[in-house]
Amino acid sequence: MKIVIIIPTYNERANIGPLLDALQGQFATIEHDMHVLVVDDDSPDGTQDAVRDRMRSMSNLELITGEKQGLGSAYIRGMTHVLRTGSADAVFEMDADFSHKSEDVPRLIAALESGADFVIGSRYVGGGTIPPDWGFLRRMNSRLGNLVARYLAGIYRVKDCTAGFRAIRTSLLSRIDLTDLRVQGYAFQIALLYEAVIRKAKIVEVPVDFIERREGQSKLGLDDILEFLQSALWLRFRSSTTFIKFGIVGSSGVLVNLGAFSLLLLLGMNKYVASAIAIELSIVWNFFLNNAWTFRWRSKHDHFHLRGLKFNAVSFLTLGVSFGTFTSLSLTFPDLSPYLSQLAGIVPAALLNYFLNSYWTFKDQPAGSVHR
Ligand code: GDD
Ligand code: MN
Repeated sequence: MKIVIIIPTYNERANIGPLLDALQGQFATIEHDMHVLVVDDDSPDGTQDAVRDRMRSMSNLELITGEKQGLGSAYIRGMTHVLRTGSADAVFEMDADFSHKSEDVPRLIAALESGADFVIGSRYVGGGTIPPDWGFLRRMNSRLGNLVARYLAGIYRVKDCTAGFRAIRTSLLSRIDLTDLRVQGYAFQIALLYEAVIRKAKIVEVPVDFIERREGQSKLGLDDILEFLQSALWLRFRSSTTFIKFGIVGSSGVLVNLGAFSLLLLLGMNKYVASAIAIELSIVWNFFLNNAWTFRWRSKHDHFHLRGLKFNAVSFLTLGVSFGTFTSLSLTFPDLSPYLSQLAGIVPAALLNYFLNSYWTFKDQPAGSVHR
């Protein structure tokens, strides 16, 4: 595999040179084609001089520069650069301040090799650690960030959502619109992870020790914290929007159904034929809208017509569930209001409809990672 380790830097002059040396030493033990890309935001402390100095002896080292916009922007530029210019199979995210150990790089690669798309060097799975000398506030800060990411943004299954040490397959990365992430700072970590989750990427956490930096200082600011919270809220909203959109489409389908039905009756059509045609028209209407809007971001490789057939099948099945509920309730409780029975039928039918269409008809179909 060709692997590019992306290291964002801002005022890391004291760290970056020794880190590049450590990585180069580590690469000697790795059988893959290892590269490093430093993304420096015009650090005033001369970080770039230290990088350029190492470039004279490291042919696998590249530097890109730009204005300071934040950690996330730096990663977005770095990743876009890798996707555009190289045939890399994976990229790493790694800090310049020795918080992430070069010795752990092979273990993250091993997880990629056993099929993961997105590997997290995790402090919060068994065996992972945070610095023992972190004070209460620092611990709480990190814990809270993760709680927000897991329970507000909805990334439940990942234990360390904010980790900055990761290995990601480019086959996954190239399916994500990096320019559309709307984050500049540390919120990038959860925004990118979320994109991987909704694409059903295989996410693996590998325990690591997080080491406190010795030189320089953290760049995490209040702006980053605010953007992080805002981003988590936005992700929560996005998770519910798929369901909300599905509901909006369904309601519009009811209008189409009734509209078509009245029109056909006006044209003098037999009411049974008119009803059937109106139902099918609304199903087709719903399908087009769900395909083009509700589930637009899902990567689909099957035939459009096949998806249409599946959608139709689901519609008829849920029609059956709705009608079945209505009939059995009416038969078991003859005194029950028919409106209640009808309503009771709609609820399971709507949920089943959403569930089947989301996980079957419009199932996200990852392209499958290419091995070169
Ligand atoms: N180019 C660029 N631009 N690099 C930046 C910027 C920026 O605006 N801000 C930070 N960096 C670089 C730093 O130079 C360092 O190499 C790396 O990004 C991490 O920055 P730190 O300032 O050391 O972050 P931290 O130690 O507070 O946070 C670490 O832990 C967090 C979770 O607790 C990082 O790993 C974060 O990514 C992680 O979310
Ligand atoms: Mn740090």
